Amino acid sequence: MKMQLRPYERHGTLNGRAGNRLVLWILADPHFLSPSLFEETADAFQSILAVNSGKLIEHMPEVMEEFLSRALREHPDAVLFPGDLTLNGELEGLLEMGRMFSRLEAEGIRVLVIPGNHDIDCRYASVLTGDVASPAERVTRDAFFREMRRFGYDTADARDEHSFSWIVPLADDLRILGFDSNTNAFPGGILKETMTWAEKELARAEAEGAAVITMMHHNLLVQNRFMETGFVLKNQAEVLDVLKRGNVTLNLSGHIHLQHCSGRKGLTDITTESAAVFPLGFGVLEIAEGHRKWNYHREYMTQYQDAALRRMYETCERFLQDTLDQLDVSEADRTCMRKAGQEVCVAVFAGWAYRPSDEEAKHGCRLWNERASDTFWGKYIVSAIGQKHMEETI
Ligand SMILES: [Fe+2]
Ligand SMILES: [Fe+2]
Repeated sequence: MKMQLRPYERHGTLNGRAGNRLVLWILADPHFLSPSLFEETADAFQSILAVNSGKLIEHMPEVMEEFLSRALREHPDAVLFPGDLTLNGELEGLLEMGRMFSRLEAEGIRVLVIPGNHDIDCRYASVLTGDVASPAERVTRDAFFREMRRFGYDTADARDEHSFSWIVPLADDLRILGFDSNTNAFPGGILKETMTWAEKELARAEAEGAAVITMMHHNLLVQNRFMETGFVLKNQAEVLDVLKRGNVTLNLSGHIHLQHCSGRKGLTDITTESAAVFPLGFGVLEIAEGHRKWNYHREYMTQYQDAALRRMYETCERFLQDTLDQLDVSEADRTCMRKAGQEVCVAVFAGWAYRPSDEEAKHGCRLWNERASDTFWGKYIVSAIGQKHMEETI
């Protein structure tokens, strides 16, 4: 199983005034599980893999190590982590991520963090070393603040007292505003009090001639028409209004685990794929000298590509199985449909245009269209075959 890694690149404008070129890396949704909390052969771990949506959990320590060595070698100005740092909010994993972040900061690389929906008070936090899962010590809201506040919140110009939201200057004319969309009071949205605070900070930035790039875990704009509920901010309209009034042109998000970019009325939302899912990517955002233009492209961690692709294929097969079982088609046709479906899912998550790999996959595409276009997966696959997943205005 081999797959050629293809580029992903987007660009846009920013309303900065002057300043040197800056390079920001974005690593989303690593869902790190501490090696002390699982054993690969344990039944408890294998049962998690069986319901896991394609994450290469067992190799994330090495994937993170590859990322860190690259960052230490190439030295971006900052590394942004838009949440879901841990698999399911296990304290041990958060402590280990904190140690990794400290290694970057020790070399002068700024680290900026916001929480994801899996990071705080998650009831699935588990130890997976035995036959069955047992509860792991969870990350509480206090623990998240204690361990992560030095990466953004404490180094901020201003911080929101109601959430883990902060605004950090990267240059005289450029700030990053990290929104916490995972408070206990309003999970999946941004608190009213936080919006009032953000509106004030955006007005202050504008008065001081600074552009602001925002970051949040949930998607600001729809990134995939089949994945809206639970992915897009609950109070999207209100937040869009505030960002528009504050002249924000670029937002960075994660959570949906796929690579995509959507735009609406001069505002772009780039969602960076999960670093734990094939093709194990991270985003590189370059702010050009003068701070009037940005360019985003994706880089890859290369060491575990084959294992990640295998995991994605197995996951898609599981997703598609029920639908395929219910179709009145021959076994040979079912095989073609399975293959096409797996290839489509890989392309959607990687942000690539879908190209069938051979005649078998092409036949599978035709069958999805003719025999299953009224099912959920049929609609999803037919839409992706037509490259609708690449559309930037949804
Ligand atoms: Fe998430
Ligand atoms: Fe996630």
